[in-house]
Amino acid sequence: MPVLSVRDLRIGYRSGGRLVEAVRGVDFDLYPNEALALVGESGSGKSTLGLGLLRLLPRTGQITGGEVRYRAPGGDQVEATDYDVLSLEGTRLRRFRWSEAAMVFQGAMNAFNPVLRIGEQFADTMRAHAPEGRLGREDIRERAGDCLRSVRLEPGQVLGSYPHELSGGMRQRALIALAMVLEPRVLILDEPTTALDLLTQRAIVDMLQELRAERGFAMIFISHDLALASELADRVATMYAGRIIESGTADDLFREPRHPYTAGLIGAVPTVHGGALEPVSIPGAPPDLARLPAGCSFASRCSYAVDECRTTDPGLLMVTDRPAGETSHEAACLRWEAVRMPAMALQDEEAGK
Ligand SMILES: Nc1ncnc2c1ncn2[C@@H]1O[C@H](COP(=O)(O)OP(=O)(O)OP(=O)(O)O)[C@@H](O)[C@H]1O
Ligand SMILES: [Mg+2]
Repeated sequence: MPVLSVRDLRIGYRSGGRLVEAVRGVDFDLYPNEALALVGESGSGKSTLGLGLLRLLPRTGQITGGEVRYRAPGGDQVEATDYDVLSLEGTRLRRFRWSEAAMVFQGAMNAFNPVLRIGEQFADTMRAHAPEGRLGREDIRERAGDCLRSVRLEPGQVLGSYPHELSGGMRQRALIALAMVLEPRVLILDEPTTALDLLTQRAIVDMLQELRAERGFAMIFISHDLALASELADRVATMYAGRIIESGTADDLFREPRHPYTAGLIGAVPTVHGGALEPVSIPGAPPDLARLPAGCSFASRCSYAVDECRTTDPGLLMVTDRPAGETSHEAACLRWEAVRMPAMALQDEEAGK
């Protein structure tokens, strides 16, 4: 059973008296302990989707349709949970955030309040969101300490520090610890490594993998870096202009992308091909969401596009259907059978195919 089921989710922003949709009908299931990566260029709607799932959109943002179901199995003492996140209000919504699903926000390295010690910020969060009501001081210290140790920080040092006394990498680890402190079953990480140097990025990605194995949460990892995302994700979904346009295993998307946009994203990453290829960037720019063209929104940038692409948006089509419980490969491209990744085309040429 998925822990999160998202159906036809639509999110808009009000601007100049209009509502412009930034998320335009997204569907996916997230299973317990699964890592889903959302990748795509700037402005494709990744953060909007993440914020919408937690109902944390800014004032101008609005969920305009769809469903987000959250499910947790029952236990000895607890009843099974199954509700639509979009209908939660007040206390129930506050508890859903952080104790069921938590998020590390994009650019969050400065999310700590600069004038409060880290320990106080852990205490505030836990008091505001703990499902069992008020927690004692000892309990708070113990849980905070436990989470900090699991991100390899020394609680004795960190809890008494002010945010500016920690390095960027330490602050990011502390934020991940803070997101985990109420043991959420879903953790959303929005570009958690973008501002960090490569070694620190790697350390954080490795650490997230270990934490997921240990603690069993499901993870949504948002990144514009497909290579990084595919290292830690069971499933990767590419977003373009507010939609998921391809979804499959990391291998599917990396080795055999079937949407020209995903293929372009891979082409735009020079390192993974061992230097043999020039990095190719995707020509053109994403469409204006307020004036979307008919048909496929990528068609004007696409070298595979045919006339039908300019009138028809096919939605996700099955590329590789796999047995229930396994990740299928789907792409929203009429011409998916023709799509070749730049590196594959080159290999084929070399092999004389
Ligand atoms: N607060 C806002 N008010 C109005 N429009 C917004 C707001 N936040 C985002 N948008 C618009 O919504 C669209 C999606 O933005 P979003 O931040 O979700 O993209 P993203 O994929 O997270 O990009 P990035 O990789 O740069 O973080 C963009 O067109 C953006 O301009
Ligand atoms: Mg973003």
